[in-house]
Amino acid sequence: MSPASLDKPLTLALSKGRIFEETLPLLAAAGVHVTENPESSRKLILPTSDPGLQLIIVRASDVPTYVQYGAADFGIAGKDVLFEHAAQNAGGLYQPIDLNIAKCRLCVAVREGFDYEAAVSQGSRLRIATKYVQAAREHFARKGVYVDLIKLYGSMELAPLVGLADAIVDLVSTGNTLKANHLVAVEDIVQISSRLIVNQASLKTRAKALQPLIDAFAQASAA
Ligand code: ATP
Ligand code: PRP
Ligand code: MG
Repeated sequence: MSPASLDKPLTLALSKGRIFEETLPLLAAAGVHVTENPESSRKLILPTSDPGLQLIIVRASDVPTYVQYGAADFGIAGKDVLFEHAAQNAGGLYQPIDLNIAKCRLCVAVREGFDYEAAVSQGSRLRIATKYVQAAREHFARKGVYVDLIKLYGSMELAPLVGLADAIVDLVSTGNTLKANHLVAVEDIVQISSRLIVNQASLKTRAKALQPLIDAFAQASAA
């Protein structure tokens, strides 16, 4: 290994918003502080108080890709994102810890007044709009329900309101978004939180730098 690569800082991939915000206390527990705010800065590479650690800011669903290819040594991603990523990309990611942040649940939701149970028991073919196509496909296959899946990239709650779908599969936390759109959750699919993911090669070649951070994150997230 060249001296330059030994000097290269560790790179942690994060998405801005709730994952960045909820990761700050974990970094603080490892003695690391971040001075720039990705919401106001246009920079995509952020330094930290530790010259040996930098952050890259990417879309939530791109975090596993950066880590898998080794462009980031490690990253933080929701189980929802990891499940969709794993369906299309084999291996390369080590998942040492559940960080217990960005907690929510993946649900089936319908318009108030739509009789989901009746539709299921009658064997009706359901139109489901979702960003989580793999998780939805697996859920309905397990139930033996025939579905047509419609892939969306956001604002799923709109789909049943405008006749695009009978139901959605989406994340729910407080339930406020469903309520504001006159939707109700009819089934919980899985509890979601975010995990630390580590590039397998980095884990071997950069263990000395990585392991103390992994340990500090594990301790802080269990507290
Ligand atoms: P993109 O901008 O790429 O569409 P996103 O909407 O998935 O990204 P975030 O909303 O920041 O990005 O979500 C990041 C992760 O946080 C999700 O993958 C999920 O695990 C979790 N999450 C999403 N919504 C909530 C919520 N309302 N409450 C708690 N955790 C959530
Ligand atoms: C997420 C998710 C739901 C909402 C659920 O959206 O996609 O719409 O949170 O949370 P609630 O049950 O507490 O209302 P987010 O806030 O991430 O907005 P986004 O559409 O920009 O992803
Ligand atoms: Mg979101």
